[in-house]
Amino acid sequence: MDKFRIDLNDLLISVSNAQGLVSPELFNHQQMVAYLSFRIAEKLMKDENACREVFLASLIHDVGALTEDEIANIVKVDYAEDNLHSYRGALLFDNFKPMKKIARLIRYHHTYWNYGNWLGLDGEKIPREAQIIHLADRVSIAVSKQMGSKNNNVFTVVESVISMLKNHIGNRFDQETFKALEDLSKIESVWLDLISKDPISHVPLNITNSYIVLDIDDIITIASIFAQIIDFRSGFTSRHSAGVATTAHKLAVLAGLSPLECKMMLIAGYLHDLGKIAIPSSILEKPDKLDDNETKIMRSHTYYTYKLLSEVKEFDTINKWAAFHHERLDGNGYPFHIEGENLTLGSRIMAVADIFTAITENRPYRIGMKDETAIRVLRNMAKTGGIDPRITTLLISNFNDINNLRAQAQTEAANRYQEFMNTYI
Ligand SMILES: [Fe+2]
Ligand SMILES: [Fe+2]
Ligand SMILES: [Fe+2]
Repeated sequence: MDKFRIDLNDLLISVSNAQGLVSPELFNHQQMVAYLSFRIAEKLMKDENACREVFLASLIHDVGALTEDEIANIVKVDYAEDNLHSYRGALLFDNFKPMKKIARLIRYHHTYWNYGNWLGLDGEKIPREAQIIHLADRVSIAVSKQMGSKNNNVFTVVESVISMLKNHIGNRFDQETFKALEDLSKIESVWLDLISKDPISHVPLNITNSYIVLDIDDIITIASIFAQIIDFRSGFTSRHSAGVATTAHKLAVLAGLSPLECKMMLIAGYLHDLGKIAIPSSILEKPDKLDDNETKIMRSHTYYTYKLLSEVKEFDTINKWAAFHHERLDGNGYPFHIEGENLTLGSRIMAVADIFTAITENRPYRIGMKDETAIRVLRNMAKTGGIDPRITTLLISNFNDINNLRAQAQTEAANRYQEFMNTYI
């Protein structure tokens, strides 16, 4: 058992891609920063692991910025020092041991160099790696803006960006990190890589591959962190994924799945709405009924869940369980319209867990259904051929048990959400 392992890199690239879907601007931004940070790190540090950590932290450095407005703000050339998204991003990963160092780099990726002589607000030394990300971040933004606004070639742009940022040596940036950037400015290929469609494809494989291998329990933890990134984008559903994951896991146990499969179900539950990261907040947060067009956009989230999880090849089964949660046995689901026998037991369990959680959970604009109403709705859906009758019966005969577990998991998630939203620097 527990022979399920994946590379941390694959998962982080997948969450970085997910964030890129919120705003195409951010997609290129994170990749550009990851590429350039790596090139600067390579000049300054001999340690391959340190270079890899800079690369990975850069790839998700803005993960704490959840809404389009926040993102629009941090990709401005002329920005005020903004540490809220840095601290929130770090908070998400702080307690996950394999990523503790990466969290620390994210926390300080906007901190000015001269604060407390390399000391952060907590009195600890700011790592050089965070300084590298800070500089690469500013360069990438200025380069993108200048390339977009004028018909410049990249080499003139780089020259002007460097002379503009130079004014901040000894205050925002330290001399040595800046010197590494200036050295790089002479290497044409670096800038051609940076403005290419897929900057991280130019980072050597020893950096982008085999960083830390995660086992099944680590994957559960990191999937629960991703669930927070998904859910925290909207106060309306800030606890949804935790409820679905717990319900699906319990149903898997009751249905007699193996212990490993039950853990995989928990992961699939945490990730089932990953594609919601691609849905605009205005739709996620709309308290009224969505119009036809908005409904179509909202429904595309499962398509994106599928595409994003396809990047992690070991997630083949988990992906099917996660991404098919709006498919229906009668073929009336979405987005693939898979039907009948083509929907595996795991996908059927997830569909029931998702409906059950959605109708029983409280949301800011309505309270959850009473037990009897929820049971009636589920029975009806099973009777009309939408969801699996066996799984539905399993849920109804353990209703109180499952409902208590769901409510408890969601209370804990609500506390984490409050803590996240109350984070200040
Ligand atoms: Fe940032
Ligand atoms: Fe950034
Ligand atoms: Fe969904």
